[in-house]
This record gives sequence, C-alpha cells and structure tokens, in this order.
Amino acid sequence: EQLELSLAQIQKGAYKHFMLKEILEQPEALRNTMRGRIRLGGASPPEIRFGGLEPLMERLASARRLVFCACGTSWHAALVGEYLIEQLAGVNVEVEYASEFRYRNPILARTDGCEDIVVVISQSGETADTLAAAQFARKKGILAIGICNVVGSSIARETDAGIYLHAGPEIGVASTKAFTAQITCLAMLALKLGRYRGAISEEQFEEHVTALLSLPAKMAEIFAQSDKIYEMSRVYRYAHNFLYLGRGYNFPVALEGALKLKEISYIHAEGYAAAEMKHGPIALIDRFMPVVVIAPTSDATYEKLRSNIQEVLARGGSVIAITESDNDDLDAECEYVIKIPKVADFLSPILAVVPLQLLSYHIADMRGCNVDQPRNLAKSVTVE
Ligand code: G6P
Repeated sequence: EQLELSLAQIQKGAYKHFMLKEILEQPEALRNTMRGRIRLGGASPPEIRFGGLEPLMERLASARRLVFCACGTSWHAALVGEYLIEQLAGVNVEVEYASEFRYRNPILARTDGCEDIVVVISQSGETADTLAAAQFARKKGILAIGICNVVGSSIARETDAGIYLHAGPEIGVASTKAFTAQITCLAMLALKLGRYRGAISEEQFEEHVTALLSLPAKMAEIFAQSDKIYEMSRVYRYAHNFLYLGRGYNFPVALEGALKLKEISYIHAEGYAAAEMKHGPIALIDRFMPVVVIAPTSDATYEKLRSNIQEVLARGGSVIAITESDNDDLDAECEYVIKIPKVADFLSPILAVVPLQLLSYHIADMRGCNVDQPRNLAKSVTVE
C-alpha cells in the first residue's frame, strides 16, 4: 500500500489534488482523443476514422435508434451525445440509465437495416450496471458498442466494438477529463455519421472538424480566468444550495455542474433545463440561492436564457453566468460572468463545463473536503 501511495504522489506531481491536475490536463487529453483519428489538410479530403467502428458504419448510419446506456457523469455525456447525433447526423438516439435499461425489458429491434444498437459509455469500463446493459443487449442479439477510457476493461472486452477515449488515467473520483473526452468522441462520431448520411455537407464537415481541432487551445484560454473563478468560489463557499440552468446542448452541462458540486463539496445542487425553472425551482429562489446559468449566445434560446436570468434577479437570487468572451450583455446584471471562447453551439459543452469543474473544485477544497476521495463515493461502482 505504501508503494502505491508514493507512486500516486509522484504522478500527482506539483498538484494539490488529482482532480485539479485532471481538469488542467484537459486540453492535452482532448488532443490525445483526436490524435490519429482526424485528418485535415493535405491533398485528400478531411476525414474522421475510428479503427474499431469502420466496418460498422453502414449499420450505425441506418440504425433505427442508438440507445445510449451509462451512469453518473457518463450519462450526462450521453445526453450531450443525443443532441449531437440527432442534430448533426439525423439518427434517433435515446439515453437510458444503465440500471433502468437492464431491468426494464426494453423493446429492441433486430431487423436488418432498421436495428437498434446499444452504445454503453463508461470511463472505467467496470460500472456494474453499464456492463450488465451491454451483456443484456448482446444476449438479445443486439449489437453493443462501448465507449471507454480504460483499455482492456470489462466493457471493452464484452462489447462487439468500441472507441477508447485515450484521455489518460483518471484518478479523482469526480470525473472531469473523461467527460470532455467522451463528448469529443461523440462529436466526432456525430460528424462522421452526419457526413456518411449526407446530413451535413462537405463544407460543413470541414468547418466542424476545424472547430473540433481548435478546442484544446480554446480550453486553455479558460484557465487564464482561474483567479476570478477562485474568488467566486470564496464568495459562494458557504452556500447550502445551488441551482444550475442550461438549455439544449448545455442542459446536460447544468446537470454535470450540479453533480460535480454535490460529489465533492457536499453542497446540495440541482441542474435543470432552464425553461423548467418556472415549474418548480423558481419557488426556491431567494438571496441565498446562487444560480449558475450557462448562457452562450450561440444557443438558439439565448434570449430566453436571458429572461430566466432576469427572473432569478427579480427574486433576489445571485447569478453566475457562463457566456462567450465577446458578449458583455450580462456583465452589468450578473454577480459574476465567466467568459469562454466563442465556438459553434454543438461544441460549447466541452468548454462551458470547465469553469464549473473549477468552481466545485475550489469550493470543495476551501471547505476542507477530501476532493479526490469524497465520502461514500467510489471511482467505479462495480457492485449494484
Ligand atoms: C461513479 C463515479 C462517477 C462516474 C460514475 C460512472 O459514480 O464516482 O464519477 O461518473 O461512477 O462511472 P463510469 O466509469 O461508468 O463512467
């Protein structure tokens, strides 16, 4: 055990916690996720390739539905994947908690050219419910694809084909770099499927691939605001409740931001699709309720998000907004505005989640919580 500990200390290097190291490693993790898979420039047209999935492209592109099964943070990545694949490729996607899927006797079609394909998403590749969902599908004769980080994990071995994240080892219990790598993989898959199906043009494909490749550098720009995020964390560290709001591609980011805060700081937090606020959470808003609103102007519903911000402010709530660097609409009205670089709407979750990861990290650390090993939680839940 001592040996393991000292090895861990070495790997953590100068960082106080693995979680912080893994948050800051994200630009590199994304580069590794895309490395060798994206071709852009040169004489041949741009391309995205996934070794293991190439022989299955026709089946994936003509599937009746892709059923994503996952747990925790991976389930949030799956939700972003649903928006990505439906929008960019026009393929029907459903997202399930693996634990519900496996016990529900779901209706799955096996007809050629109109089949359901199960895609399990798991950082560790060991989550009991997610593994069981893949086994359940295969037993029914359904193709099961795995998206995992850990090479040679149970899910990697027990699926028909898959994609590795190549994000590097994730040690902190709260998942960070695996989440952004999962979304990056799903975005690549969405673009590949979209082009295969003719849902996006060659020009759009090239433009989107270029945007993907620009993400690591853009993400690094967010770290330049670390001081502001730190200061904001000091202000809110004693809050008892937090609300996170987002829409569209960033609705799952609201869920993920709330989960990060719960997991490591033990502050109660809820993520909501912003328009649902009026159906309940608005009743909770008072001056003790910080509300984090993910409001990029690239979002088709940006103006509606602004109205939500007004509604929160009118009830005395304090708003932390996440928006693009060229937008100063919100500066005067919100307590804090964290600016992220401008990027196409479908890629905004990958950037928008970063300040939320840092916010929970700093709050947890300031509250003296065990950031890397929060109470009652495990890195991978291998039992039911
Ligand atoms: C546990 C971890 C979470 C993780 C979830 C799913 O709850 O604490 O961070 O998101 O399991 O894990 P997986 O390895 O399947 O992605």
